[in-house]
Amino acid sequence: MPFLEVHEVERRFASQVAVDGVSFSADKGEFVSLLGPSGSGKTTLLRIVAGFETPDAGHVIVGGKDVTFLPAQKRNMGMVFQSYALFPNMTAADNVAFGLRTRKLARSEIRQRVNLLLELVGLGEKGSRYPNQLSGGEQQRVALARALAPNPSVLLLDEPLSALDARIRVNLRGEIRRIQQTMGITTLYVTHDQEEALSMSDRIVVFNQGRAEQIGTPQEIYDQPASLFVSGFVGTMNRLTASVAHRQRGICQLGSQPITIESLPDDVQDGDRVEIWIRPEGVRIASAEEAAQENSIEVLVEQVMFLGARYGIRAVIDQAGTLMVDVPRQTVAEAFEPGDRLRVRFEEPLTVTKLGLSSPGTGNDGVSQARA
Ligand SMILES: Nc1ncnc2c1ncn2[C@@H]1O[C@H](COP(=O)(O)OP(=O)(O)OP(=O)(O)O)[C@@H](O)[C@H]1O
Ligand SMILES: [Mg+2]
Repeated sequence: MPFLEVHEVERRFASQVAVDGVSFSADKGEFVSLLGPSGSGKTTLLRIVAGFETPDAGHVIVGGKDVTFLPAQKRNMGMVFQSYALFPNMTAADNVAFGLRTRKLARSEIRQRVNLLLELVGLGEKGSRYPNQLSGGEQQRVALARALAPNPSVLLLDEPLSALDARIRVNLRGEIRRIQQTMGITTLYVTHDQEEALSMSDRIVVFNQGRAEQIGTPQEIYDQPASLFVSGFVGTMNRLTASVAHRQRGICQLGSQPITIESLPDDVQDGDRVEIWIRPEGVRIASAEEAAQENSIEVLVEQVMFLGARYGIRAVIDQAGTLMVDVPRQTVAEAFEPGDRLRVRFEEPLTVTKLGLSSPGTGNDGVSQARA
């Protein structure tokens, strides 16, 4: 049985639907990210779970108990916000102790727990500092320790790293995950940063306009995006329209060029239009031998970007759109320049979707998909 359940939750503000019938669950100790663009309802949903907001419909269940109408202070949840929200007139240690003071604990017990938590977040030496004597990253560590101090059953974090610079953000990601796993605490983590969600989570709920568009492991979300929206929001996805030339042999026409696609969806016939989804890293520069075969296509290089460990090439397929190609650094990529012609191959995973007759290239969510 899941530990935390969000069941068909809805929240409207005036005429606007902020959360539109969202359901998902988290097992005990699971780290679930709520990932979505600005305004998609992530914070509203988190505030409903925390008890700062009451839903218009639906339920929040924790440990089998319906807490939908329970006040926030009775839910035993810890929350960390984007802005550190520390008490400026209190030391780091006093900030961490804050949630413990209201409990009937001996002073020595409180001091012990505060030290333990400061140690856990890597601030063992800095308990006597005031917030303005700490860096942003350190302040956010204090906020995390403060949220964890009362031993909450659920930890809620709303974009806790977005105010920090890139390098600290990556460090703290790992720290938060380590601490969360050490404590085995059920966690909801709001972010609009796909890399953050992919790298930290057990599971991800992708939000779009107040709805949970897809729920899955990071690998599932990345490899099998359930909709156009998810495919575009998580990572880069090439979307190419082709027409089926010879169903039996898997030959499709991509612009003016034929390409072989191993497994087309069952329901396509000759003449149908299909959309091919392939990640930039799923496209490979064809070797000379492969280039002679019919499952490679020629593209025109438009831009070559150096991205550190890899190159990103933007290329044009004659009459069929733009293609992003990721290539590792130690390849021929360095030799390419805008204007060059290049042959590429499509590797797996590749998703091919039959396009409806109505408006090709838009709103084809929900039609049959096949994995090549
Ligand atoms: N108190 C409120 N009154 C009116 N509208 C609100 C209120 N809170 C949120 N909204 C609206 O509900 C929608 C969802 O907001 P929410 O803050 O949940 O989005 P979000 O996904 O957290 O976005 P961001 O990534 O920008 O933080 C937005 O359109 C927002 O304007
Ligand atoms: Mg928000």
